[in-house]
Order: sequence, then structure tokens, then C-alpha cells
Amino acid sequence: MFLMKDIVRDGDPILRKTAEKVKFPLSEKDKKLAQDLMEYLEVSQDEKQAEKLHLRAGVGLAAPQVGVSEMMASVLVPADEDSESDKPVFKDVIINPLIVSNSVQRGALTEGEGCLSVDKDIPGYVHRSARITLDYQDVDGKKHEVRLRNYPAVVCQHEIDHLHGILFYDHINKDNPFKKEENELFFY
Ligand code: NI
Repeated sequence: MFLMKDIVRDGDPILRKTAEKVKFPLSEKDKKLAQDLMEYLEVSQDEKQAEKLHLRAGVGLAAPQVGVSEMMASVLVPADEDSESDKPVFKDVIINPLIVSNSVQRGALTEGEGCLSVDKDIPGYVHRSARITLDYQDVDGKKHEVRLRNYPAVVCQHEIDHLHGILFYDHINKDNPFKKEENELFFY
């Protein structure tokens, strides 16, 4: 499985490249990559295991972040703490993802964003779309179209950015990091 030492850090040119589309059926290598990308998130969200293995908790991990320039990312947004169900809000390996529509409404996380590839805290609002419609293929090649809003929408936009060489802080206003955009929603 991946450990922090396997995660490519900001400054590596692979994080600024556009990734290659993935071909189906997946090669054995790509199947293993998909499994490993999801495993990192599962293990990193388990407090005890994360501490033992020195993993930073993550809700998304894109292939370029482990040195593979392919259009693949794992996303695991756990259930809300106050929710009765343990079922994750969103969990899948998204392959060849494409955002087919963006809301006019903008959105940002109150606490800003972080990234496993960026070691330092970069404060500021990361302006995104509040809602998206996302098309992607899963590991079996099955096509999905999902509507996402708020936090899971932000996570998917962050991961898809990684496949296009964009990092979260690119969306922060350099002159005024906490300037709000017009018609912008804030959420956790
Ligand atoms: Ni990231």
C-alpha cells in the first residue's frame, strides 16, 4: 500500500501535467493502482492505523500524486457524524472523470483546503462550483453520472484538478485570500 513516502510533493512536475486517459478494460497494473488509491483513503481515515503508519488522513487521492499520470482518482467522503447510516456520502474510484455541468452558484469550504501533496498550510478560500454533474467510469468500465453538492462536490473538483495539473491554492485570491465571491456558499 501507499505510504506518505510514496506521495509526490508540490514542486514535482508530474503534479502540473495533464494526465492521460485510461483505457478499458483496465490493465492489471491499473486495477492494482485503483485498489491502492482507495486503500490509502480507507486506512488513513482509521485513526489508529493512520497514527501507526504515519498517514495524513485524506478524502481523495489522484494517480499523479503517486507518480502515475493517468486520469484516475479515489474519493472517499465518509458519512456525516450525525448521520444514522455509516454509508459513505461518496466512495468510488473515478476514472476519466468529466464535469459536465457546473452550478452558477459558487462554493468554498470555510476552513479552506489541504492536499496530501502540499505539506504546508495555505490559508484562503478555494473558490469552486457549489454543485456539479460528474460523469466517470468505475473500475469495471461502467459509466456513472452523479450530481454532487457542497463538500463531496468540492472533493471531486479538487481531485479532478489534479488530473489537469491544477492545485487547490491556484484558486485562492492572491491579493486577498479571504475575499468572498459574489453568490458564494460556505460549507464544511
Ligand atoms: Ni490534493
